[in-house]
Amino acid sequence: MSSINYSEKIPNNVNLSEDRALQRALESWQPDFINWWDDMGPEGTTDASVYLRTAVSVDPQGWAQFGHVKMRDYRWGIFLNPGQQDRKIHFGDHLGEDAWQDVPGEYRANLRRIIVTQGDTEPASVEQQRHLGLTAPSMYDLRNLFQINVEEGRHLWAMVYLLHKHFGRDGREEADALLQRRSGQEDNPRILQAFNEQTPDWLSFFMFTYFTDRDGKFQLCALAESAFDPLARTTKFMLTEEAHHMFVGESGVGRVINRTCQVMNELKTDDPKKLREAGVIDLPTLQRYLNFHFSVTIDLFGADESSNAATFYSTGLKGRYEEGKRTDDDQLRGQTYRVLNVVNGQLVEKEVPMLNALNEVLRDDYIKDSIAGVERWNKLIEKAGIPFRLKTPHKAFHRNIGALSGVKVSPEGQVVSEAEWAARHDEWLPSGADRAFVASLMGRVVEPGKFANWIAPPAMGINRQPVDFEYVRFN
Ligand SMILES: [Fe+2]
Ligand SMILES: [Fe+2]
Repeated sequence: MSSINYSEKIPNNVNLSEDRALQRALESWQPDFINWWDDMGPEGTTDASVYLRTAVSVDPQGWAQFGHVKMRDYRWGIFLNPGQQDRKIHFGDHLGEDAWQDVPGEYRANLRRIIVTQGDTEPASVEQQRHLGLTAPSMYDLRNLFQINVEEGRHLWAMVYLLHKHFGRDGREEADALLQRRSGQEDNPRILQAFNEQTPDWLSFFMFTYFTDRDGKFQLCALAESAFDPLARTTKFMLTEEAHHMFVGESGVGRVINRTCQVMNELKTDDPKKLREAGVIDLPTLQRYLNFHFSVTIDLFGADESSNAATFYSTGLKGRYEEGKRTDDDQLRGQTYRVLNVVNGQLVEKEVPMLNALNEVLRDDYIKDSIAGVERWNKLIEKAGIPFRLKTPHKAFHRNIGALSGVKVSPEGQVVSEAEWAARHDEWLPSGADRAFVASLMGRVVEPGKFANWIAPPAMGINRQPVDFEYVRFN
């Protein structure tokens, strides 16, 4: 059950060959997917062979096999974690009942919406990142970008499989629409705003993979608890891939920090102007990028009070992060949670029914997890002997969704006037000049073992290969 059949047109471990209707549906979708990849996948890479990992089985030992492949020929496929016999629903109103192998009619619309919203983010991020290969700071980094891109492509397959298998004609239409929306396109944009923003440079890419792929982790973790068993098993397998995406972000920002600190010590300065002249990214600029990506990403969790969130939980569609490890009653009726609200222009905590606050609960779990990695970055700065610390901004800072979107708040959490916001905006978020400076550093470095001046080499290569390994063959 756990190994994947690659002799079939669509690699899978879901017995696709025995389900002719599904096979036909997916085989007719596949050429459209390849067309989308050709149009919107990494630019100018048709001939490149990339040292990629491919899933060959879904057990912990064997899900990654490394070798040079052309991305177009990547074995995208459908892999579910092994099922758990007699799995029971472990939260919400259906607690204790058998998990569903099919979609219950009454939850069909909500489940479809959840799957489409998740599925839409996958091709969106590939679109957002499609020009980055042209300015890669090294061949090692180029390979990591491409690894993420093919895996986001496979995540799209994972969601499309669910749509085709369980949602009939509507599902097929939704699967087609996933290939038609485009990140940032005015008349047919991607569903969530953070996935319509540009990823214009590699600092943005590393921040995106640290912060926004981590949103992916938390959403997938919540869906991995679902009473709808195929969704739970699909998302569990996606999580194994997601870990690498966050590693790329965390280690990428860490290497920028290492290089900057090295130059700060060499030049004995913390003057951003001098550091920029030396071709590295000053720490205050890193902080502004962090502020931007953190705030845009926490918006993705949705409104702080949401009756949809309550419904999704109570009906068993979407659990909390690590639901299985929680020791409360897993139903949450009559419980409360504190959310931030705005009263007379001030931030005030307010107690609300916990079921309605589940977006906020997930956001708070996410924030805790994000802060942990920022502290690991601070360790690097500390080790270099530099008295500067990065900090995640207050959660009310620069918000566009929910109650907090109505006020202007500093990164420290002080409500500020419109005038102060306007005056200090460029101190808190990347300015045009910051972005132009970062853009000016982006030049293509792809000779094996060479790295752009603004980033340190990694401590080790991929899959125990040397750092100067030929990760990408341009042919
Ligand atoms: Fe993904
Ligand atoms: Fe990802």
